[in-house]
Amino acid sequence: MCPAGFWPGFLGWYFARMNEPAANATEPESTPRGRKMSEPETSAQYDVWSGFYDRTFGALVHRRQSRAIAELDVKPGERVLDLGVGTGLSLIKYPPDAKVVGVDLSAGMLKKADDKLQGDGLHHADLIQADAMHTPFADDSFDHVMVSHVISVVSDPNRLLEECKRIVKPTGTIVVLNHFQSPSPVVGFFERVLNPVFVKIGWRSDLTLQECVRGLGLHVLYHFKLSWIDFWQIVVLSPTPRAPLPATDLPRGAGPTAI
Ligand SMILES: C[S@@+](CC[C@H](N)C(=O)[O-])C[C@H]1O[C@@H](n2cnc3c(N)ncnc32)[C@H](O)[C@@H]1O
Repeated sequence: MCPAGFWPGFLGWYFARMNEPAANATEPESTPRGRKMSEPETSAQYDVWSGFYDRTFGALVHRRQSRAIAELDVKPGERVLDLGVGTGLSLIKYPPDAKVVGVDLSAGMLKKADDKLQGDGLHHADLIQADAMHTPFADDSFDHVMVSHVISVVSDPNRLLEECKRIVKPTGTIVVLNHFQSPSPVVGFFERVLNPVFVKIGWRSDLTLQECVRGLGLHVLYHFKLSWIDFWQIVVLSPTPRAPLPATDLPRGAGPTAI
């Protein structure tokens, strides 16, 4: 039996330690302990994940990934960039008359994506191994960008969206599908406390949407969940201001949102 007050005391100590500045002098002073993702580690982690991703986390993504792609409203011939394409579960969901480029850091994940392209005889997509925060693409070279379950995986989410803004056309759409820290104090507390555990398995649980878009001048057109108990949100962004869509078939809670 634990003495009364053990768990509140332990959690208080753990939370305080987690938020201490990192001892590593090369990290920014504001980086709390345990929050950082790092690309070399991530790449290795997802090489391992590639063996069982589709049967585990990947099995849970289909419905919201299809809905996120629908929000791009891809027209025939348009160019779409899928950053962090992973094992390519999204590829078959794009219209076959679109031109899709999938980028990922992990060779293992890309191999699975390539197997799908070959196996399904898909010719509308190309795959490139690169860091999504520093891509080789020219400014304004894509009509749309998809960031599906990736923004909490990279070491600098704000930099990732800055890169999206650079490569998408001013008329284009960026859709981010991800979990963001809950505004509920209780849920948000546990998401912050458990963050170091999630970082170990490949993503952050403490990321806020505000942190991602801060200072970029991106316009959050609307964001929503497919159901109120869903952990993941679909966030629709534009580099230029745009009239809000008529919220016809959006789930409850969707609408233009001030960030
Ligand atoms: C959770 S998986 C999501 C895969 C896919 N988008 C999906 O929704 O199923 C995250 C993916 O992001 C990739 N990734 C992580 N950091 C990256 C980076 N800096 N540049 C490119 N890809 C990255 C990982 O290798 C992994 O394939």
